[in-house]
Amino acid sequence: MVRESLETLKDEFLSRIAEGASEEEVERLRIEYLGRKGKLTFLFRGFKELPPEERPELGEALNRLRQFVEDRLEFRLGELKQREKERILKAERVDITLPGSRWERGRIHPLTLVMDEIIDVFLTMGFEIARGPDIEDDYHNFEALNMPPDHPARDMQDTFFVSQDRLLRTHTSPVQIRVMEQRRPPLQIIAPGAVFRHDDDATHSPMFHQVEGFMVDSHIAFSDLKGVLTHFLRQVLRPETGVRFRPSFFPFTEPSAEIDIQCLLCEGGGSTSEGQPCRVCKGTGWLEILGAGMIDPEVFRFVGYNPDQVSGFAFGMGVERIAMLKYGIEDIRLFFQNDLRFLRQFS
Ligand code: PHE
Repeated sequence: MVRESLETLKDEFLSRIAEGASEEEVERLRIEYLGRKGKLTFLFRGFKELPPEERPELGEALNRLRQFVEDRLEFRLGELKQREKERILKAERVDITLPGSRWERGRIHPLTLVMDEIIDVFLTMGFEIARGPDIEDDYHNFEALNMPPDHPARDMQDTFFVSQDRLLRTHTSPVQIRVMEQRRPPLQIIAPGAVFRHDDDATHSPMFHQVEGFMVDSHIAFSDLKGVLTHFLRQVLRPETGVRFRPSFFPFTEPSAEIDIQCLLCEGGGSTSEGQPCRVCKGTGWLEILGAGMIDPEVFRFVGYNPDQVSGFAFGMGVERIAMLKYGIEDIRLFFQNDLRFLRQFS
């Protein structure tokens, strides 16, 4: 009788364990059969009530069954663990023969390249860098630069006003005022940065960049201006570039000059090899590149300097214009469209 129930128990266990599909289910089976209240444990208890002559044989059968159940549970657990391992391996499979993904390499924007180059030349000459705010007040952008309200020169720079008194600076010249208000000569400064004018076509952008420069000391002469700018232009452009100074006017410099360089395309000849007028310099052979002059005594008075004791020069240049001439770019808007085909060409 007992022997039969052992067989039934074994068969039942075998089909149960075949169905056990997870480690938890197998663990539950272990408790169900071998636990303190388990089916096998129950049989072991009944064992004591058997007549002594039946005990050895049945005891052995019981022990074998327990061993069998234990082995089976262990084996099933191993199977399930292995299956899980294979599932994970499959799910996380990596095809190491696939080509790798490349890092996208960024490039420095052409304007930054040119700006850095300009700054480098001046740093080498002993200039230091100063910066001013993009949003200026009327006083620093115009008035202290000798452009009183209603001065016609204000029209040269179509201005974006933020409020009655605040505006987007139309040039970097207000940095001259801000530095001189704070410090005493000798000064040898450049002021790079963004400027804003209400202007928008192939050669004008509402936002562009300038580098301002100025030098103030007790005996600064126009020849110093010529020397510094000629050296600068030959460093940034070509060592043999022709440079010419033309009389001009700015309210904040006296005398004032505009500086031209020999055309980089036709090299000053003014025409193409086919005899057509050069399209870059429009046949003149020269390109305007800088505004400059000796700082006006009125400007010195505004910042509290004595014009009888100090003199100085100042200049300002457009970074986009220099970059366009240097690289032969015909439309200023290309700088700001972020077209990678354009930007990738510079390094
Ligand atoms: N600020 C002038 C401009 O933007 C350039 C300039 C600077 C001219 C310094 C003379 C001296 O046109």
